Amino acid sequence: MPELVRPSERYKDSFLDAVREAQESGSGLGDTLKWNLDDIRADFGKVLRDLTRYEPGNDLPDGFVHSEYRWLVEGEEYLGRVSIRYTLSDSLREFGGHIGYEIRPSARRRGYGTLILKLALERARELGIGPVLVTCDVDNLGSRGVIEANGGELEGEFEVPQHQDKPIRRYWIRH
Ligand SMILES: CC(C)(COP(=O)(O)OP(=O)(O)OC[C@H]1O[C@@H](n2cnc3c(N)ncnc32)[C@H](O)[C@@H]1OP(=O)(O)O)[C@@H](O)C(=O)NCCC(=O)NCCS
Repeated sequence: MPELVRPSERYKDSFLDAVREAQESGSGLGDTLKWNLDDIRADFGKVLRDLTRYEPGNDLPDGFVHSEYRWLVEGEEYLGRVSIRYTLSDSLREFGGHIGYEIRPSARRRGYGTLILKLALERARELGIGPVLVTCDVDNLGSRGVIEANGGELEGEFEVPQHQDKPIRRYWIRH
């Protein structure tokens, strides 16, 4: 059964494969495409430390909110990642929302996107976060499917300054 876990050394090989896949296909969230594989292989501890840097107890850079990363794994296999933000900054309220996720390219279209958001919503509920805002590009049909399968109610489509190339959709999930 796939589950959400804290990022850990146990999934290093599979995680590195997933980063390579993302870079080869040119499809990955945020900084994934810019990572240097040799650097992260040599110092995986730094990757893990970076992934906990916004957790409660740490000082935050200006404009940041507390958040946590979780990985979707099955056995030893890394399938994807999710970030759960505990509150919304002004900028996350406009674009980004409480939860952002990514499924590794080779595992897409098998329901894992829908599952990672479902599990992240369960975690958000435990943390007392809600209603939950999730946003996506208007043309990201996969993400729209994931959000709608999890009960997302469309607030609307918006042009936002942080993201000028295309409008985004904002959805709210009440639980
Ligand atoms: C968006 C993403 C997470 C979807 O993950 P996934 O594992 O493929 O999603 P699922 O298999 O659960 O699919 C959910 C629904 O979307 C549909 N879907 C998935 N990818 C699609 C695509 N590229 N085009 C059209 N529909 C798509 C599925 O068919 C499914 O609908 P169905 O239940 O009616 O069949 C994945 O494509 C991804 O990681 N993309 C890059 C990062 C990203 O965009 N993250 C979201 C930022 S808002």
